[in-house]
Amino acid sequence: MASRFSSREINDFCLYLSREYGLSFPAARYSFVENRVLPVMTDFGCIALSDIVDKAKKDLQLRIELLNSLTTNETWFFRHPEHFKILRQHILPALLDGLKQTGDNRLHIWSAGCSIGAELYSILFTILDTLPDPQAFNIQLTGSDISSDAIGRARSATYNDHELRLLNEKMLAKYFKKSNHNSWQVLPEFQKHCTFELLNLLKSWPARTYNIIFCRNTMIYFDEGNKNKVATRFFRALEPGGFYVTSANEMLQTLEHPEFTQIYVENEIVYRKTIQSNELKLVKFKTPTDLLRALNLLKNNGFYFQLEKIPQEHSLAPRRAIYLRKKESSKVEELFELNSIKVTSSRLVVK
Ligand SMILES: C[S@@+](CC[C@H](N)C(=O)[O-])C[C@H]1O[C@@H](n2cnc3c(N)ncnc32)[C@H](O)[C@@H]1O
Repeated sequence: MASRFSSREINDFCLYLSREYGLSFPAARYSFVENRVLPVMTDFGCIALSDIVDKAKKDLQLRIELLNSLTTNETWFFRHPEHFKILRQHILPALLDGLKQTGDNRLHIWSAGCSIGAELYSILFTILDTLPDPQAFNIQLTGSDISSDAIGRARSATYNDHELRLLNEKMLAKYFKKSNHNSWQVLPEFQKHCTFELLNLLKSWPARTYNIIFCRNTMIYFDEGNKNKVATRFFRALEPGGFYVTSANEMLQTLEHPEFTQIYVENEIVYRKTIQSNELKLVKFKTPTDLLRALNLLKNNGFYFQLEKIPQEHSLAPRRAIYLRKKESSKVEELFELNSIKVTSSRLVVK
């Protein structure tokens, strides 16, 4: 079938999709793009592909429909079961060891590009079935995706037989209730651990840190530049000692990411953040506003930082401090001073 668009027009449009959303389509998939985008053009009265680009700047609904039409949300529970075995046998024991040493009980996990949430719930069930005493932990899981349709389904926590095909009867009975003849809903007491949010990985993220990040089958179409950028941001969003799990077709170029340690387990590779604490400096701030301004400055200038929970010194003091790399710390502290950001103390952390 002849294309309705010139090759220049569709080429420019696909460049826009890659730049704005990380969705990359090679020429072989141009007819897929065309088929998906035509109904959106009709709905929003667009004549040319460039009309979509122009209208998308102001029209949130158009952006939502466009992304829902172009993303592939295919997923299922326990997809690539090896990763869940590694989670159970290697990642969780290593993290629990670390938590024991710091006395922390926080276990925060992010499934980035979570689609309808099957991956996030598979992680939750693995954790609950592995920890000897899950109640003793503050377990919070966040799933995010660029597609509002996918997030809507994740929030409904309802899945069909096909998506649940790798679950055994015992798990199904423990975590789900039947909602109709071939669909099952996660029980509310398990849903409460999971939050789902709309997020474009190429735009800004909430300043949070996690013990584990899963991002699988999501950056597969990102170009190398975007993939590297996002991986570096995942590294910053990980707690020291935290793990990053991705799929075989999205492995990192090790030379580009010396900050990650590659761990070979069960014939797979997962990544671990291993910043030595003696390379760090802990900086405390006078007020939460100083902390917030410092975070923005660090992000905008591309400095490494790591948020750390601290005991609050008084009721108006921040609950978090920031770890900086020792070698960057004098430059950063100079920047804080120039911007009148008030620091109450800073000390090298040497163990
Ligand atoms: C194939 S699904 C993967 C789901 C799950 N991680 C898995 O491995 O089964 C890929 C998901 O990535 C999402 N995605 C694509 N580009 C994205 C972006 N720039 N930001 C956030 N999510 C994105 C899509 O909407 C889709 O739901």
